[in-house]
Amino acid sequence: MTQNKERIFLSPPHLGDEELRQVTEAFAINYIAPIGPHLERFEADFCAYTGIGHAVALSSGTAAMHLALRELGVQPGDDVLVSTLTFIGSVSPVTFVGANPVFIDSETSSWNMDPALVEKAVREGENKGRLPAAVVPTDLYGHCADLDALQAICKPRGIPVIVDSAEALGAQYKGAHAGKGAAASVYSFNGNKIITTGGGGMLASDDPELIRHARHLSTQAREPAPWYEHVEIGYNYRLSNISAAIGIGQLQVLEERIRRKREIFDRYVAGLGETPGIHFMAEAPSERCNRWLSVMQLDPDITGTNPEVIRCALEAENIESRPLWKPMHLQPVFADARRYGGSVAESFFTRGLCLPSGTRLTNDQIDVICDIVRIALGQ
Ligand SMILES: Cc1ncc(COP(=O)(O)O)c(C=O)c1O
Repeated sequence: MTQNKERIFLSPPHLGDEELRQVTEAFAINYIAPIGPHLERFEADFCAYTGIGHAVALSSGTAAMHLALRELGVQPGDDVLVSTLTFIGSVSPVTFVGANPVFIDSETSSWNMDPALVEKAVREGENKGRLPAAVVPTDLYGHCADLDALQAICKPRGIPVIVDSAEALGAQYKGAHAGKGAAASVYSFNGNKIITTGGGGMLASDDPELIRHARHLSTQAREPAPWYEHVEIGYNYRLSNISAAIGIGQLQVLEERIRRKREIFDRYVAGLGETPGIHFMAEAPSERCNRWLSVMQLDPDITGTNPEVIRCALEAENIESRPLWKPMHLQPVFADARRYGGSVAESFFTRGLCLPSGTRLTNDQIDVICDIVRIALGQ
């Protein structure tokens, strides 16, 4: 096997000519700050693509989650049910508003927040006169959480569902875009996401007032006066017009990126799916996953090994792969948090590996990666 001279990254940015054209235009008109025509167009294009009524472009997905929790009235001391198998940007904003994250385990089929455990947590809270203030499922690796099942528990009790679709742009649940139908939804344009603005996020909702006020808070809650007048505390969370210009170009190629991400996943399945002890994340019939990352599961009893061995074998060839998100309830910073469930998320974490999934990956490179995995397994 030949050593890869150039590193293969897990999910690097993939930019093209249109992004450069849009950025050049933003420079030419001198709108580079968090105000300008590209920002407005990026939001409008996002709404047209997702079918969600309103959206505000922000500096990160984490900022979008913070504003969502604030807009939906989460208060200090409240409980917020969150997925344990997720990235910390989904959860840390709960602490920003002084609330307590309560971790919910994954279901085995979708790897996402288990609605049965949510029902248990909500009923227990109800009996104590302490309903959660919000439920925040993550659409993990571009797979949609079961929003209908969660809404059936939450809607009658007036609990808002905020979908963390940071990884799921372009994914669909029952024919609608990921996050559509929730009280609010959050997206990330971090450099490793399916499309990027080099760092950025979006908060979306069908509620125009929620987005109007979130936009106000994102620009330091400045009142319409000639001087700087403030009646509430806001944040410096708005995306810059220059980043939005990149986003306009990226949105135009999103469907192309999803098509390639799905091809990459299919090639991994073709190359490794028959190997004993290797499994891949299945797509539910009701969804279209964007396959942001191709994620493999390794059965240690059958393979006699663990994902770290594979990760090191790939690293030796200058190829980046990564363990799954370490569940939040195992993070030292959340040692005292409450949780519902057993060890489903833990098991995904200890058995899983995210394989290189960049949309510039060639089929030959995927085949080499499959070879390295098989050799590491002694197959
Ligand atoms: C599930 C999830 N939630 C939230 C975030 C936070 O997004 P950002 O990095 O844009 O703040 C990310 C990604 O980074 C994520 O993967």
